[in-house]
Amino acid sequence: MKVLVTGGLGFIGSHTVVELYNAGFEAVIIDNLSNSSINVLDGLERILGKKPEFENLDLRDKQSVQSFFAKHNDVVGVIHFAASKAVGESVENPLLYYENNINALVYILQELTKMPQANFIFSSSCTVYGQAEKMPITEDASVQPAMSPYGNTKQIGEEIITDTAKVTNINSILLRYFNPVGAHPSAEIGELPIGVPQNLVPFITQTGIGLREQLSVYGDDYPTPDGTAIRDYIHVVDLAKAHVVALQRLLNKKNLAKVETFNLGTGKGSSVLEVINAFEKVSGKKLPYKIVGRREGDITEAYANTDKANTVLGWKANLTLEESLASAWKWEQKIRS
Ligand SMILES: NC(=O)c1ccc[n+]([C@@H]2O[C@H](COP(=O)([O-])OP(=O)(O)OC[C@H]3O[C@@H](n4cnc5c(N)ncnc54)[C@H](O)[C@@H]3O)[C@@H](O)[C@H]2O)c1
Repeated sequence: MKVLVTGGLGFIGSHTVVELYNAGFEAVIIDNLSNSSINVLDGLERILGKKPEFENLDLRDKQSVQSFFAKHNDVVGVIHFAASKAVGESVENPLLYYENNINALVYILQELTKMPQANFIFSSSCTVYGQAEKMPITEDASVQPAMSPYGNTKQIGEEIITDTAKVTNINSILLRYFNPVGAHPSAEIGELPIGVPQNLVPFITQTGIGLREQLSVYGDDYPTPDGTAIRDYIHVVDLAKAHVVALQRLLNKKNLAKVETFNLGTGKGSSVLEVINAFEKVSGKKLPYKIVGRREGDITEAYANTDKANTVLGWKANLTLEESLASAWKWEQKIRS
């Protein structure tokens, strides 16, 4: 059974390709390499013992999307990761984000409506909740006005899918990720941020390896136990497995609605200082850092209530923060060696 993985050479997509094969599926990857490297395909081959099918295609090109589906009319599901994801860049260049994250989604859905039945998994984000009033965050917490064009594309994306699924053959699962971190234990694939990382863990590992002088901790005056912001860091391998479980749910027609939404997190919040301490423990390195002012748009805390994912979806994160950081550190050391 072949699954289309858009953005399959990216961070989460590549790990999901591995888990699809582990579960007996095959993947066909679409990626335009805008935020990934063709070398990821070699990493996948080393892990899987074979190279997944790959099409270097830009999903903003409607005709290419149409030709792809004409050629691959046997895909049993689509896992749609491809998107631009840098919050700051989306503020600078909103139209790039609306074009890439919305047009591409619409073109794919248009092709799926031509199929007798279609299964569609969407990469959404906990950013849709903004600063939720209650922790941990459940799926029925209200969606807050987006704080960036990037965040808005996730909200609009969810709405487009919901409106479309209502009146078509499409069944969909919206997965709201908390903070994906880590790398495959083999260190053959991992996160490859371009330029200065915007996320904590790649910034930590790049500082650990000496690529950055020191880590900036944005704010120690948040109303949290140690004053630093709290997030729910989930190992990318756990996250990847959730996509396979979600796809199987749709294939086995176990879904209770045309569109279902699940939080994907560990359920545990960790502060920035706790992550730094955990990194120092697993790496044996002292991490130089300084406290600076809060970063605009950052919220105080976000961690998931995972009850629905655990009981309804039947998926649970198993790996710890330490395991996530150890794998990210192993990956950082491998790519710099
Ligand atoms: N990483 C996170 O912290 C996080 C959190 C919440 C949600 N998400 C979402 O998860 C998805 C995957 O994130 P990621 O961290 O793996 O990102 P990533 O940038 O590593 O992967 C996305 C991939 O999509 C490809 N791509 C982008 N536009 C394309 C286009 N027009 N045509 C073909 N390929 C295209 C890129 O080259 C890249 O390989 C994204 O939709 C992202 O918004 C990520």
